[in-house]
Amino acid sequence: METLQTVNEMQAYTAKLKHAGESIALVPTMGCLHEGHLSLIRLAKQQASRVVVSIFVNPTQFGPNEDFDRYPRRMEADLAACAAEGVDAVFNPSSEEIYPKGYSTFVNEEVISSGLCGVSRPNHFRGVTTICTKLFIIIQPDIAVFGQKDAQQTAVLKKLVRDLCLPVTIVIGPTLRDEDGLAMSSRNRNLTPSQRQDALSISRALKIGTEMVEKNVRSVDRIVAEITHHISHSRRVRLIYVQVVDRETMEPAKTIIPGTQVICLAAWVDEVRLIDNALL
Ligand code: PAF
Repeated sequence: METLQTVNEMQAYTAKLKHAGESIALVPTMGCLHEGHLSLIRLAKQQASRVVVSIFVNPTQFGPNEDFDRYPRRMEADLAACAAEGVDAVFNPSSEEIYPKGYSTFVNEEVISSGLCGVSRPNHFRGVTTICTKLFIIIQPDIAVFGQKDAQQTAVLKKLVRDLCLPVTIVIGPTLRDEDGLAMSSRNRNLTPSQRQDALSISRALKIGTEMVEKNVRSVDRIVAEITHHISHSRRVRLIYVQVVDRETMEPAKTIIPGTQVICLAAWVDEVRLIDNALL
């Protein structure tokens, strides 16, 4: 497995693969890889002859008071996990390599990114669309694989690719959950056992929501109220938002139309911010 740190090295590697007629699947990550990421790598392997994983804790998608410094990092374990999965190359540049002194160009999607997490994390998606555009230009993947857990991110990135005519197909892998139902996330590492116990109310509340839809409840207000009520029983969990939205546009739904929507939820578990969602 190649480990590449500079843009020049990565571009030379990409050129070599393209010249040899290989197809490239990119799995962009911020590291601290868990089974969810590994499932995306396996999905990538099925769809291209070469797999590149990027590991970069992207500073521009964190707000000034967010957890950039506390975001878990485990580079050695990540490289070992990638090697074990048969990844061809890992791109793990430094911040200065991606954002050299005087860097001033950003890519911004202005509609889909404005609601949900865009409200409480104002520049988050600008950072995500900027880094992903840069990765797509540097690595030139045929496909890029992301997890469904970040439902809004996937919708924003699909729109980015469509609006800018970027020659990459966005592939979405399903959310992986631990046995207790908690959606896998690198941030789960920052939870104490009792915080983790309280965090389970998030996936349980979403399940209550999907069960209501299965029982033909069509009132969004009723579903949101039930989810909010369930979460309110967990002392450590503070809801940031819960909304039923269209899967593609992220526009808030007025009534349930199964097959087109997703319940999106963000919550603080003490100082750890978690997101999760349930496709309807
Ligand atoms: O989902 C993530 O881990 C990040 O937002 C991404 C897509 C790697 C961009 O930094």
